[in-house]
Amino acid sequence: MARAKIALIGAGNIGGTLAHLAAVKELGDVVMFDIAEGLPQGKALDIAESGPSEGFDADMKGTQDYADIAGADVCIVTAGVARKPGMSRDDLLGINLKVMKSVGEGIAQHAPNAFVICITNPLDAMVWALREFSGLPHEKVCGMAGVLDSARFRHFLAEEFNVSMRDVTAFVLGGHGDTMVPLTRYSTVAGIPLPDMVKMGWTSQEKLDEIVQRTRDGGAEIVGLLKTGSAFYAPATSAIEMAEAYLKDQKRVLPCAAYVDGAYGLNGFYVGVPTVIGAGGVERVVEIAMNKDEQAMFDNSVNAVKGLVDACKGIDDSLA
Ligand code: APR
Repeated sequence: MARAKIALIGAGNIGGTLAHLAAVKELGDVVMFDIAEGLPQGKALDIAESGPSEGFDADMKGTQDYADIAGADVCIVTAGVARKPGMSRDDLLGINLKVMKSVGEGIAQHAPNAFVICITNPLDAMVWALREFSGLPHEKVCGMAGVLDSARFRHFLAEEFNVSMRDVTAFVLGGHGDTMVPLTRYSTVAGIPLPDMVKMGWTSQEKLDEIVQRTRDGGAEIVGLLKTGSAFYAPATSAIEMAEAYLKDQKRVLPCAAYVDGAYGLNGFYVGVPTVIGAGGVERVVEIAMNKDEQAMFDNSVNAVKGLVDACKGIDDSLA
């Protein structure tokens, strides 16, 4: 069987890391598209030259021509600008919306059967716009945020409890922004819900609240440290986990920015929810029961995303 083809739209910090991970994991051949001449070509050649030592078989190509993504099985989109210190994800909206238009048209023309994972921020609004511009089926277009947010939550929890992060599960709902909703009740250490961990004396409620807030601010913490851009290793790893679930039909239960139509009282809206990802793309949205407080936080997050989607409609008439 021919190797899968993975198109990376944007070959910056995240795009380059995605290419490296896809190659090392032998997920398929990689084509990197970027408007910056030489950048995707240089990264593709550099990664290809790591092949003999690493021992992977994958073709690596850089391009400025959308025709080269033809027939891609997966497209991962990071094209656009990233945050600098002092900027929120929402500050990127105007610039990145224009980028989504050109990317959506490129994918629609050359890779209409691909599973598309958007990473460009502000994520929930950009994945919605990318779906609108591309016209692809809703279940084939989703956004990477929840896997990253829950990975950050899991990392902080594993540190707090001094246990392996493999035994920590975490649940994050809502938009990828300050209003995201880390749900402690559905997050566990080897199946023990976090509120029980507090009762068992492994941590305090105050410490848990701090970790929840640190998770919400996880992206900003990295931006503040790097000063010249935003996180890229963990975002790339998270998107590769989603791509692998699709390519290998793993039916992974992963949180992502998915099109929700019916569940959670939403009618046709992109927001972070737990999903099942397999060969059909986003095959299912998992609807969980929320208590009053959780529902209020989720509604607040949905409203924040709605505001961004409305702002997109205000900028580009074709989206209204
Ligand atoms: N088409 C293709 N590529 C583009 C376009 C476009 N219209 N506009 C910009 N790019 C490319 C840039 O040339 C750059 O190489 O997108 C790349 C973005 O790379 P970085 O600036 O390194 O940003 P990165 O850290 O990879 O983040 C990308 O993901 O997490 C989000 O907030 C982040 O929106 C940002 C995106």
